[in-house]
Amino acid sequence: MNTPQNSLPAAPPYGLSAGDTPKKVSVQTFADMRARGEKIAMLTAYDATFAAVADAAGVDTLLVGDSLGMVCQGGNGTVGVSLDDMVYHTQCVAEGVRRTGGRALIVADLPFGSYQVSKEQAIVSAMALMSAGAQMVKLEGGGWVADTARFLVERGVPVCGHLGLTPQTVSSLGGFRVQGRTDEGAARLREDSAALEAAGATMLVLEMVPAALAAAITADLPACATIGIGAGRGTAGQVLVMHDMLGVNLGRMAKFVRNFMEGSDGVKAAMESYVRAVKDGSFPDDAKHAW
Ligand code: KIV
Repeated sequence: MNTPQNSLPAAPPYGLSAGDTPKKVSVQTFADMRARGEKIAMLTAYDATFAAVADAAGVDTLLVGDSLGMVCQGGNGTVGVSLDDMVYHTQCVAEGVRRTGGRALIVADLPFGSYQVSKEQAIVSAMALMSAGAQMVKLEGGGWVADTARFLVERGVPVCGHLGLTPQTVSSLGGFRVQGRTDEGAARLREDSAALEAAGATMLVLEMVPAALAAAITADLPACATIGIGAGRGTAGQVLVMHDMLGVNLGRMAKFVRNFMEGSDGVKAAMESYVRAVKDGSFPDDAKHAW
C-alpha cells in the first residue's frame, strides 16, 4: 500500500477566512440535520484538489466511489477496481479535505471482491480504507450484506449501505435499470433497507429507485440517512458523481443528472450551486430527474 507522494507546500485552508474553523461533519451531524429537516449534500471525489474545492464549497460528505473505475480509469464498470485503488484515492481525498480544514465526512467504497468472501475479509478491507482516511465505508447489496454490516459496525466501522441499482452486480440485475418497480421488488428493497438499519448502518444510498419508494424507505428508517441518486427528492440527501454534475462524462448522461456548470462561474461555484439546490429542494426536480 503506497502513501501518495506530495511535494506541494503546506497551503492555508482553501476558501476559509482567517480564524474560521469548520466543524467536522460526523455521523451525529447527519442525525441532527435530519432532525432539523436539512438535506445532506454528497458528491463523489477521487483526488485532493477536487476534494478540497468540494469541501470548501460546503459539500457535507464526499464519497470516494468505485465509479473511479469509469471516471478515472476509463473502464466501463466498477468491477475491476481494486482495494489498492480505493486506498490510494481515499488517501488523496483525505489529503485534500485536510487542506481545507477537514469539514466533509469521507465515505469510501469497499470494491467488488473485497468483502464478499467473509466478514473477516470485509473488516480487513474496511480497516485499510479507514487507515487511508475514510470515516465510513460503503458496501452494496441486501440480504447477507446486513450481517457483514453488523460485523463492521460492532468493530467500530461506520457503514453506509447501497441498494437499488448496485453497479458491482449490474450484470445480475440485467443492466442499468430502475429497481423496485414491481410490488415484490419494492417490498424486497424495504426489507433490505430495514435489515441494514437494524444492523447499524447509518447511511444508505438508494440508486435508481422510484421516488415514491425512496420516500417510503426514508420514512421507514429514522436512524439511517438515505442518500438518493436517481431516487427523487424524498430522501434525506442526494449524491451525484462529480464529473456528471460538472458536465464532463465519457458516456451518456443519465436522466437524473443536472449539469451544474451551466450558469456557474467555475467549478467551485457549480458545487456551491449543487449544495444550495440540494438544501433548498430544487434538485432533484422529480418531474425531470426521477421515475
Ligand atoms: O461509486 C459511486 O460513485 C457510487 C455512487 C454512484 C453512489 O456508488
